[in-house]
Amino acid sequence: MIRQRTATTSTAGLISILLTYFSLIVLILVFARQIISDVSLESPISNYIVIPIAIILPLFLTVVIGLNVYRIWREKRRGHPGVNLKIRLMLFFAIITLLSSLPQGILSVSFIEIAMNRWFSSPIAEGLEGGVDLVLQYNLEKVKGLRAFGGSPLLSSLYRDIPRSPLNVWKTVQETSTLADSLQIYLAGGEEHSFFGDERGKVSYQRVNTWDSGLANRESYESYSALRYLRRQTIGGNEYLIILSTIIPKDFDKKAEKLTSSNDTFNQIELFQPIFRITLILFYFFFSFPLILLSLLISFLLSEEVIQPIVSLEDATRRVADGDFSYRILNRTGNELSSLVQSFNSMVSELESSRHKLLQTEKISAWQEIAQRMAHEIKNPLTPIKLSAERILYRYRDKNINFERILEQAVSTIIREVGNLNDLLGEFRDFARLPAPQISDLRIRDLLTEAVEVFRDSYPTVTFDLENLDQSLSIPADRSQMRQVFTNLVKNACESIQDTGSVMLRTDLVRKRNKQYCRIQIKDSGLGIEQDFHGQVFNPYFTTKEGGTGLGLPIVERIIFDHDGQIWFETEKNTGTTFFIDLPLER
Ligand SMILES: Nc1ncnc2c1ncn2[C@@H]1O[C@H](COP(=O)(O)OP(=O)(O)O)[C@@H](O)[C@H]1O
Ligand SMILES: [Mg+2]
Repeated sequence: MIRQRTATTSTAGLISILLTYFSLIVLILVFARQIISDVSLESPISNYIVIPIAIILPLFLTVVIGLNVYRIWREKRRGHPGVNLKIRLMLFFAIITLLSSLPQGILSVSFIEIAMNRWFSSPIAEGLEGGVDLVLQYNLEKVKGLRAFGGSPLLSSLYRDIPRSPLNVWKTVQETSTLADSLQIYLAGGEEHSFFGDERGKVSYQRVNTWDSGLANRESYESYSALRYLRRQTIGGNEYLIILSTIIPKDFDKKAEKLTSSNDTFNQIELFQPIFRITLILFYFFFSFPLILLSLLISFLLSEEVIQPIVSLEDATRRVADGDFSYRILNRTGNELSSLVQSFNSMVSELESSRHKLLQTEKISAWQEIAQRMAHEIKNPLTPIKLSAERILYRYRDKNINFERILEQAVSTIIREVGNLNDLLGEFRDFARLPAPQISDLRIRDLLTEAVEVFRDSYPTVTFDLENLDQSLSIPADRSQMRQVFTNLVKNACESIQDTGSVMLRTDLVRKRNKQYCRIQIKDSGLGIEQDFHGQVFNPYFTTKEGGTGLGLPIVERIIFDHDGQIWFETEKNTGTTFFIDLPLER
């Protein structure tokens, strides 16, 4: 049976994380635009889509990372293979992630700072304000100039020529000042006397008549505005209304308006500047924090990926060390570790075959030893048989009167020794030709009580205790072989007790390497086993008893091995011996 293990990879997880990563970048590009235009016009963070994303995404990622950390913590507590290496790798990755994002964060924040400072720097503010001043000054100059010119005494002497030659007057006005774009003259009463210059300067008598002398209010029309100066003057007995006009193009007004409103907006933003700065920095963290979390998650997955083959190697090495030579690692080809895995697999194959060879050689030498001991054991009873037979013959020829008694003695010796030989051969046959176990579910309690019952009558001085025998506990085993095991062990226990003593049997459930076993203890209060014999009691034909075969324990050991179990003992001289047997609950 070859058990295999695949180095699994979490490619799907990696792909989904990368997708999230890229969509996050797209989101940043989209929202960066939006947030900046929002902030500069209205209240800061007015974008309500940004907020849930900025909160939910990092929250979600933090939960995922928390789950991963918890999983690793559990693995560490359970002593999962490779978990320490995994933790070190993850820490390593996490430190790299944080180290690489730290300078980025510092750069971005200081970049925002610098940009903001530049943005709201004094040259720009001064420029804007200067522009507004310029506009105001231009206006002021026009107004002042027209007022000074319109009210000047020079003009009142010039106007005296109006009845005679108004054209000359206009020409002189034009020569004197660039401010006058038109000259309009009414006679008191409403009759228009004359008009010169830009038609746009014209104004009706009804309007003019309501004005006081001097600079009139500035009047705006669709495409221009006009400044006017009115003078009432009596020349040659008639009263004249004389109007000087300056035309200001609308274009200029519009630009002036824009400049003023820009200046206002700028001042307003400058007021919001601290909030704006905080918003930008928050925005940076809202998006860079999930990015850092995502990178952490990726590093988790990557370390898992890196660690997996090493873990399966470690696992496999441990199994092989435990004696499972059938274990092989399945690895995806193309992996950097695949050659390592391959050499591991071939190493285990070689180990398995060499161990197989070793077992074979051990078997052969064991059999040689058995054959030698067999010859020896058979020779022992042969000598008394031969002696007895010779004695019968000799006494028969001798015509001895005691012949009948001697015959009886000799023949019973022969019969006894032949019986011994027969026992020996019988046990040897059991040992040499132990058939494969016929597995069925056996109730362990029944087996042990049966074994005890056999000896109760023959050893009346021994008390038998059955402890902790679970009624329902059953194991898959061969009935007759198990009977032999417990009979041999209980027999040895009884034989070790000199006068009176006790034999105790007990079962427990134990767990070894994820497998459940039934542990059976057979404990006696006998002589114990000598230190020198500890290594020999399981050897075939080792016995310290007169008439012992030395095959009881080897047979027991064979049967237990055939049932995938283990057997060992603990002993103390003059206190007693306990034999332990672990048998698997499942095969
Ligand atoms: N419960 C025990 N107490 C003391 N010695 C024991 C016990 N079981 C086995 N032994 C020792 O191990 C030897 C081998 O036992 P075994 O293989 O059953 O052969 P045998 O019983 O025929 O001697 C025994 O001769 C004895 O010295
Ligand atoms: Mg025995």
